[in-house]
Amino acid sequence: MAEALTARIDRALASVVNHRTGRNVLDGEQVRDIATSTDGRVQLTLLLGAGDDPTLARDIRHAVAAIDGVQDVRVNVADANSASGAGPEGGRAGGAARNPLPVMQPPQSAQRAVPAPTPQAFPTLGRIIAVSSGKGGVGKSTVTVNLAVSLAKRGRHVGLMDADIYGPDIPRMMGVSAAPPVENEKIVPLEAHGVKLMSLGFLVERDQPAIWRGPIVMKVINQFLRDVRWGRLDYLLVDMPPGTGDAQLSLVQAAHLAGAIIVTTPQDVAVGDALRGAKMFERVGVPVLGVVENMSWFDAPDGSRLPIFGSGGGARLALELGVRLLGEVPLHQPVREGGDSGTPIVVGDPSSGAARALTAIAEALDTA
Ligand SMILES: Nc1ncnc2c1ncn2[C@@H]1O[C@H](COP(=O)(O)OP(=O)(O)OP(=O)(O)O)[C@@H](O)[C@H]1O
Ligand SMILES: [Mg+2]
Repeated sequence: MAEALTARIDRALASVVNHRTGRNVLDGEQVRDIATSTDGRVQLTLLLGAGDDPTLARDIRHAVAAIDGVQDVRVNVADANSASGAGPEGGRAGGAARNPLPVMQPPQSAQRAVPAPTPQAFPTLGRIIAVSSGKGGVGKSTVTVNLAVSLAKRGRHVGLMDADIYGPDIPRMMGVSAAPPVENEKIVPLEAHGVKLMSLGFLVERDQPAIWRGPIVMKVINQFLRDVRWGRLDYLLVDMPPGTGDAQLSLVQAAHLAGAIIVTTPQDVAVGDALRGAKMFERVGVPVLGVVENMSWFDAPDGSRLPIFGSGGGARLALELGVRLLGEVPLHQPVREGGDSGTPIVVGDPSSGAARALTAIAEALDTA
């Protein structure tokens, strides 16, 4: 069985071609320290050269994840030029090993497996909470921004970290576009609506984010945790890209999280995706604090509630996960307008139904 899995992993790796070299990552000796567990988890290290496309990490993850019986794939990335010291196998491998490395099955010999980075506690950052979803466009960033501002309005010290490297939205939603200043090698976060912000949107041009993707995420997330002068926070909310990709894994590997909030719409398809997203956090021991259902209904001019995207999905998801439904936020055009103009709805129109729902969610979180 072990042999079979090894062979299948090799085959998957051989299907991933590095377009810079024209060779697959197996023949190109770019993969090492492959470890597998009996319950289908696979971990490996990708050696990435300076000119390599960082999306190779994602391609490898997808290829290995597609193998029957593989439950979880973790791709650690090391710099091909300074890789010899990385990991306990480093000395033996001395850089790219000829053969992809011993497959441990099961990996009780932990000293031989690649250690996942150990999550660190960041006591000065308060409760670090990831806002995540399975599906894109369900309103993660909108919810994150409004929760952060609501918590700040309650007198909390709040940081907001935009970990969405694929489409950083937080600066626009908070009405901030200037680059943060750097003092004594620390980035000084900008502040808007009483919240300290850090976003990749401050650091990368909109049309050149590719170099930050994939493996660079870990670096950036660590930098945001360590090199930003957050001061003392009660909360650090982290806006995630959709799905369960590098940003989610990097964050849970980098820091002890207080928990994750899962955002979904009432639709079944969004709920299925959200369930998968939530399970990922549970698997790595991060508690799901609750579910936020967004775009729950539309208040028609005649006073009726129209369930544009169906109904009940948030409650179903919460039930399935055994967590609280933190709230339901109606679809309300000024929510979008507020996001586009940099004035979150809890500031722009606090008495609206959507703002009241978001404020109540912040309160539920803060008094939990
Ligand atoms: N309750 C709402 N009422 C009206 N518009 C909303 C609401 N929630 C979100 N929107 C709008 O829907 C769009 C998607 O929301 P948002 O960007 O917050 O989602 P996301 O999950 O962060 O998306 P992505 O996956 O792309 O990061 C935005 O234009 C936002 O303004
Ligand atoms: Mg977003």
